[in-house]
Amino acid sequence: MDKKIILSGIKPTGIPTLGNYIGALRNWRLMQQDDKYCYYMVADLHALTVRNDPDELRQQTRSMAALLIACGIDPERSPLFIQSHVPAHAELAWILNCFTYMGELQRMTQFKDKAAKHADNINAGLFTYPSLMAADILLYQPHYVPVGEDQKQHVELARNIAIRFNNAFGETFVVPEPIMPKFGARIMGLQDPEHKMSKTDTNPNGYISLLDEPAVIMKKFKKAVTDCEPVIAYAEGRYGCNNLLTVYCACTGKTMEEAVKDFEGAGYGKLKTAVAEAVIAEIEPVQQEYKRILADVTYLDSVLKNGAEKAGETAQKTLDLAFARVGLR
Ligand code: TRP
Repeated sequence: MDKKIILSGIKPTGIPTLGNYIGALRNWRLMQQDDKYCYYMVADLHALTVRNDPDELRQQTRSMAALLIACGIDPERSPLFIQSHVPAHAELAWILNCFTYMGELQRMTQFKDKAAKHADNINAGLFTYPSLMAADILLYQPHYVPVGEDQKQHVELARNIAIRFNNAFGETFVVPEPIMPKFGARIMGLQDPEHKMSKTDTNPNGYISLLDEPAVIMKKFKKAVTDCEPVIAYAEGRYGCNNLLTVYCACTGKTMEEAVKDFEGAGYGKLKTAVAEAVIAEIEPVQQEYKRILADVTYLDSVLKNGAEKAGETAQKTLDLAFARVGLR
């Protein structure tokens, strides 16, 4: 059977939110099926595009890897690795830089946003971030790249770079497709349900961190913004209520119809408590696994070493081919 290849990555900056979990990490777990082969990566090189503290980066990188395993990524089945452990990423990135136009990079929404936010540090790495990401992807010849809405533009650029390279030098890279989750792609903020839940929200009550204590999760949901309508329903414009129902469905596996039925005649208090309980039931085991794995230094080291070896083998093959195609070596 020809397996479909999947690759995705996450930057080790900050603790993921419930939104990241429902929209991405949980799907990474679910994608590990017999007809697919998945590579998962912690993108530590990408974290350097903003000023960082070395010890913090080291710690956050390991912590993210432990969290991915805790979320259900099975490293025996899907290579899990740290980007900087596979040198081919930086090497292919240079070549791809030479196949990426300034105009393309200038159009990237994330670059524009970050340049505005870090006006004192608009470095070249921030600008060429997407060609490194294209290297991350193209090295593994994946058919699909699961990403959030905000990364779709980068995957499209990777496609264009692949097509451009293939046209110039012959078939070298598989042209990948971005895939976005159909359900729960946009979990909204608890305080401002018209905007996506974000870990950089200045109000910590606006988001659930994957490592929030159960009591904190309960407290945050109890404070969640809803509306004044008397009946709980999923309806146009009812952002807060819709969001709570969506989270409820995501964590219980129920359909929206079943969810609405569960709250017939109930008030918001009951809804909020039930949602919090469902979230706690889903992520408390993840938190316990995370602590266990992070404490097991030998295990985590060996997972990351194996992951880098397996990923490195595939990556090196693609890199060798690309080098040969352009006339290096
Ligand atoms: N840029 C992605 C993000 O910020 C992380 C990432 C790096 C990535 N390399 C990747 C995602 C390759 C998918 C594929 O979320």
